[in-house]
Amino acid sequence: MQLTTNSLNQLPTPCYCYDLSLLRSTLNVIKEETKDYPFIVHYALKANANPKILKEIVHAGLGADLVSGNEVKAALDAGFAPGMMAYAGVGKNDWEIETGVDNNIYCFNVESVPEMEVINEIAARHSKTAGIAIRVNPNIDAHTHRYITTGTTENKFGIDIPVLDEVVDKALSLPHIHLRGLHFHIGSQITDMEPYRLLCEKINELLDHYEGRGITFEMIDVGGGLGIDYENPEEHTIAPFKDFFDVFKQNLNTRQGQKVHFELGRSIVAQCGALVSRVLFVKENSAKKFVILDAGMTDLIRPALYNANHKIVNLTSQSASQASYDVVGPICESSDVFAQDLALPLTKRGDLVAILSAGAYGESMASRYNMRDLPHCHFIE
Ligand code: LLP
Repeated sequence: MQLTTNSLNQLPTPCYCYDLSLLRSTLNVIKEETKDYPFIVHYALKANANPKILKEIVHAGLGADLVSGNEVKAALDAGFAPGMMAYAGVGKNDWEIETGVDNNIYCFNVESVPEMEVINEIAARHSKTAGIAIRVNPNIDAHTHRYITTGTTENKFGIDIPVLDEVVDKALSLPHIHLRGLHFHIGSQITDMEPYRLLCEKINELLDHYEGRGITFEMIDVGGGLGIDYENPEEHTIAPFKDFFDVFKQNLNTRQGQKVHFELGRSIVAQCGALVSRVLFVKENSAKKFVILDAGMTDLIRPALYNANHKIVNLTSQSASQASYDVVGPICESSDVFAQDLALPLTKRGDLVAILSAGAYGESMASRYNMRDLPHCHFIE
């Protein structure tokens, strides 16, 4: 993404800067890669629900993948079509289900029989039929961080395959439920395509099995999770969408008329956002030099929560010499660290620093801990 100090000098910090032209290029690649296939891409709002970002994504014609009643409302406000909305999550409140039913969303991704029964009841009360997909736990290890692996039997998500038949039968028996298909999601920040190939094999087996029982599905939702390059974001500004969609084009045996839905979050928005921060102080003790930023874990929690590595650049310093710094935030927690022993050009108070690849799960996970203000936002056209 394009960041220059001249354009940013006046910015209030910490500030999320979004490169909208990079977002548009990313969306164009998705459009190109999916255009000749029965593929429908939903954007996972949890990655970033900033209204200006949502507007671009609506404009590109994507659907929405939602995980709360408020996300359903945000998607409606942004102009996503209800017929392109999927609402997932292991614990949905009644008012959240009602919001989906009232607005005729395309489907609820259902994670348990009790949830299905409640959706049936609420839909009946509203004299409606609710579309659902059953979330299946395919027991595939996505080889990613343990906090963002979702598709193994150790996780709380989805229905295990040995009991899937019963759950499908149950869905078919409920009068206010319309079973549209099966839903899968194996994890996030997945950079090896092999788990997706294994997922296709699992889905093919299930499609054969249900066809044998005379049951066909109008759609299969394969979830999201495509990873991005946090190490070299400037080289890989756009995620490897071709490799990702090719796996499904080549390995999934979809049936006549069947649609394949995707739920991508990170890969759409991560690289178009950077968290720009000012250096408050540079402090040295006997062991280390610290760069203390005005941004902290309240603005970007990923390093503290997942040990995530975001590339950090000093946008101001012209110095040819470098020093090794720990880059930290101002929060009263020892985990409020963005990088340790990082080589940066000589850095001083007032310098602007950018933490890259922060467009996904950055602003959306910000908190007001320590009674801090939420970060500012700035858009580069
Ligand atoms: N669908 C479902 C059912 C999900 O649970 C998720 C993400 C997505 C789609 C979108 O996944 P994506 O394409 O963005 O990987 N806060 C963590 C990531 C949590 C992901 C949760 N689920 C992080 O900062 O890495």
